[in-house]
Amino acid sequence: MKLPNVKLRELKLEDAEDRYKWCLDKEVTKYLNVLDTYPPFTMEETKNWIQKCMDKSNGYEQKAILTEDGKHIGWIDLKNIDRFNQHAELGITIGDRAFWRKGYGIAAMKKMLEWGFREFHLHKVWLRVDMDNHRAIKSYKRSGFIEEGILREDRKRSDGFVDRLRMSILQSEFFKGG
Ligand SMILES: CC(C)(COP(=O)(O)OP(=O)(O)OC[C@H]1O[C@@H](n2cnc3c(N)ncnc32)[C@H](O)[C@@H]1OP(=O)(O)O)[C@@H](O)C(=O)NCCC(=O)NCCS
Repeated sequence: MKLPNVKLRELKLEDAEDRYKWCLDKEVTKYLNVLDTYPPFTMEETKNWIQKCMDKSNGYEQKAILTEDGKHIGWIDLKNIDRFNQHAELGITIGDRAFWRKGYGIAAMKKMLEWGFREFHLHKVWLRVDMDNHRAIKSYKRSGFIEEGILREDRKRSDGFVDRLRMSILQSEFFKGG
């Protein structure tokens, strides 16, 4: 199967419109490390967050995910960038559900990993995912991430504390995989 073409671009303040809308969708935010309150963020908070990302003042290297024809469909980031140990944590959301399960997540991760490994000379990229987020785990495995272990009762959700799976991909594995 051929992966769809995606572009990653720097965030713009106008991205707040889509972002705000996506974050009202419980199906989208269910497994995100955000508060379970509704609505999760006000438009004001969403804009402030995007501004902080643009200013690089919150430790996030966050980018917008676009389809080949320029449609904004989500965001992807690297955070907790540990320059000494050369690793960082990846996060991704395809906010527009019409674009789920079509390979856009995998395509965006590929682009972000390539950029991260080169830009920050990372040795490893890791992530944490709720154990019951099967769609995401499948996508991460397809992208080359390998299970590292289970973080017990690692996230507090409205339904209680849940385990998270820690996964990672090494630079050597990524470039070997093409
Ligand atoms: C998790 C998430 C990022 C995955 O992204 P996605 O675009 O839906 O998923 P993928 O890119 O992995 O798509 C794979 C699907 O595309 C299909 N596909 C199409 N072309 C493909 C290709 N070239 N290679 C692989 N799969 C392809 C596959 O068949 C697969 O479908 P299936 O799951 O029915 O088998 C997305 O679902 C999401 O944003 N979820 C909500 C937020 C969230 O949970 N984020 C993660 C928090 S840790």
